[in-house]
Amino acid sequence: MRDPRPTDQPPSEGLVTPPVTPPAAAPTGIDGFRLLPDHLDAAAQRAVLAAVESIVEAAPYDRFVMPGSGRSFSIDMTNAGALGWVADRSSYRYSPTHLRTGRPWPPIPPILLDLWRTLTGYPADPECCLVNLYRGTGAKLGLHRDEDEEVFDAPILNLSLGDTAVFRLGGRRRTDPTRGFLVKSGTAMVFGGESRVFYHGVDRIIPGSGTVVPGGGRINLTLRRVTKPA
Ligand code: SIN
Ligand code: FE2
Repeated sequence: MRDPRPTDQPPSEGLVTPPVTPPAAAPTGIDGFRLLPDHLDAAAQRAVLAAVESIVEAAPYDRFVMPGSGRSFSIDMTNAGALGWVADRSSYRYSPTHLRTGRPWPPIPPILLDLWRTLTGYPADPECCLVNLYRGTGAKLGLHRDEDEEVFDAPILNLSLGDTAVFRLGGRRRTDPTRGFLVKSGTAMVFGGESRVFYHGVDRIIPGSGTVVPGGGRINLTLRRVTKPA
């Protein structure tokens, strides 16, 4: 990820009940992009949640700051896998260890590896599962591209639990038109082909719209291949 710019997003802070205005239509005809709204049924969502809880127990959430500005993200993050995505004053990068505890990240749980294998068909397993926790009206992720990886032939697999998100998807360039659509609990998205490097972000979540995450909020997982398979 490079240079998230929350200011690119429509203003949402300060609104007690943010209006729900995104188009409901799912994006179609985007090369390599798949939106699977009900991929995880209730039991599968609970199983993925249990996997997330095991990750968080071994690798507690962190609140990263952005390089340069030093401003904090509005979401909590942690990782599983050989390489975790991290950010600090110096850079966005992949790290084999948790920045605060210094410990290796826990392995990616089998249920997530199975989803990766089924949904991406990529011949190697992911090395990173980034866990994002969005909670409250200010939680968002500015428009960005996932570009800290060494390989781009592997898709990114995105899984959502809990509150509905207003997701934003653009194109190759930051200035390309974007569209907003709702992503609810149980949704899987695959960013392959052209869409692998498309700008994307989360404008906001709709607090209270989901029931799966204890304490409320939205948990998003992104599974990524970082290095070229041997
Ligand atoms: C990300 O771009 O890393 C996460 C997107 C999401 O929360 O759905
Ligand atoms: Fe991303």
